[in-house]
Amino acid sequence: MNLRRLLRPVRSRFLFLFTVAPALLVACNKEDAQSTFGTSGPIADTQANLFIFIFWIAVLVFVLVQGALIYSVLKFRRRGSDDSLPAQIHGNTKLEIIWTIIPVFILIAIAIPTVKIIYDHEEPPTNEGPVLDISIRAHQWWWEIEYPGEDVVTSNEIHIPVGQWVNFTMHSDDVIHSFWVPKLAGKLDIVPGDVREINMKADEAGFFFGQCAEFCGEAHAKMRFRVKAEEPAEFQEWLDSMRRPPVELVSSDAIAGQSLFAANCSTCHSTNTWQAPAARNERTRLAGLRSAYLDNQEDAVVIAAPNLTHFGTRETLGAGLIDLNAENLIEWIANPDDIKEGTRMKELAVPYRNNSLSSDDVRQIAAYLLELKPVAADAVMEPAGGSSGTAIERGAATFAGNCSGCHSTGADPVVGPGLAGVSSRGDDAYIRQSIVEPGAVIVDGFPPAMPSGFGTTLSTEQLDDLIAYLKSL
Ligand code: CUA
Repeated sequence: MNLRRLLRPVRSRFLFLFTVAPALLVACNKEDAQSTFGTSGPIADTQANLFIFIFWIAVLVFVLVQGALIYSVLKFRRRGSDDSLPAQIHGNTKLEIIWTIIPVFILIAIAIPTVKIIYDHEEPPTNEGPVLDISIRAHQWWWEIEYPGEDVVTSNEIHIPVGQWVNFTMHSDDVIHSFWVPKLAGKLDIVPGDVREINMKADEAGFFFGQCAEFCGEAHAKMRFRVKAEEPAEFQEWLDSMRRPPVELVSSDAIAGQSLFAANCSTCHSTNTWQAPAARNERTRLAGLRSAYLDNQEDAVVIAAPNLTHFGTRETLGAGLIDLNAENLIEWIANPDDIKEGTRMKELAVPYRNNSLSSDDVRQIAAYLLELKPVAADAVMEPAGGSSGTAIERGAATFAGNCSGCHSTGADPVVGPGLAGVSSRGDDAYIRQSIVEPGAVIVDGFPPAMPSGFGTTLSTEQLDDLIAYLKSL
């Protein structure tokens, strides 16, 4: 026996050990974050049970067929020096009917529960309380999340209440993606131009892994997300906190980072959707960025990008890729491609093209983002731009929440010009245009940094109040 032949079984054992066995272990280990066996909700549960039912039928068929095969090979093998052919049989009606009918019954046995479950899962049960609606929009390569009717928009981390049914409505602006939270439900393809729905419920609190499950381009494998299932009171507190203003920035890095963010990042990323008008406008704003990108991909400097409101409360970064902490965030902002090959941030954004962000700038932007957290519930006296007080007082609140990151109320420039005495530069119409169409009227010596469409995030009343306040400076 030569060496190669001797090694063959060893080689195949190695192959099994290093390929098939780990795959089986990972797939079947209930503890694995993306295992479909360690389920945490009724939909995934039913689907796993159906899989196990079909699996055992398949095992039975496998054992019977292979058993018959091995039996025949051994029993009817050629013996001794007998060269004669065995009896040649052509056709056996009884046998053919049997092996046609048996699979028909097996397939019926599989089809009945499968079809029933497909129909059962179409709608959430009607007798288990109200259903929470969440709208999901898949982008290359991140997830836009909206809570319709709640004025809450976020990205990549989906909060849901434990024990309540959730109906996800799925959209895509670009290519086909697939929404999959293995521990909660099977996957659903998201096809551009088509609106699809999937229901699920979490039976226990947890931070569940999600993954795009349809190849959608370069960063497909890193188009992940998380579902955070929380006790109902905790979920409601999160929802409320997303509508509260951010805490005041503390560190000098964060304060410097705010202006850097406004000048370099805010054209694509929002941080202000805690205000209802901005939240309501976010979908339109992102759709605008997306179509601006499609109109001129060659020279594009914008694209729909994840909403970053209260980003400091998140746990992950880069669409569920890595833990959110200062070190990772700095690395991400400095060189996003190192963490997520294919992300368009570096390819499109002007500061990367011009190589204009210093390592200090990056550190300060990261400090700003990490300090973006909502104020405590009892700290909200009057919502910014609220309905009490004089027009000038309401305008001052709107200014503090929307404009103060880039404009001082004195003469000093921040990112944009200081606004003291702005009324001497033009009339109401001039101020209004400066807010609504920032590109049309730029004060000499300042960059066109103010996000276009900025004014559309304000209601008509907020805009009137803001103009009244600005004129008072
Ligand atoms: Cu989106 Cu794969």
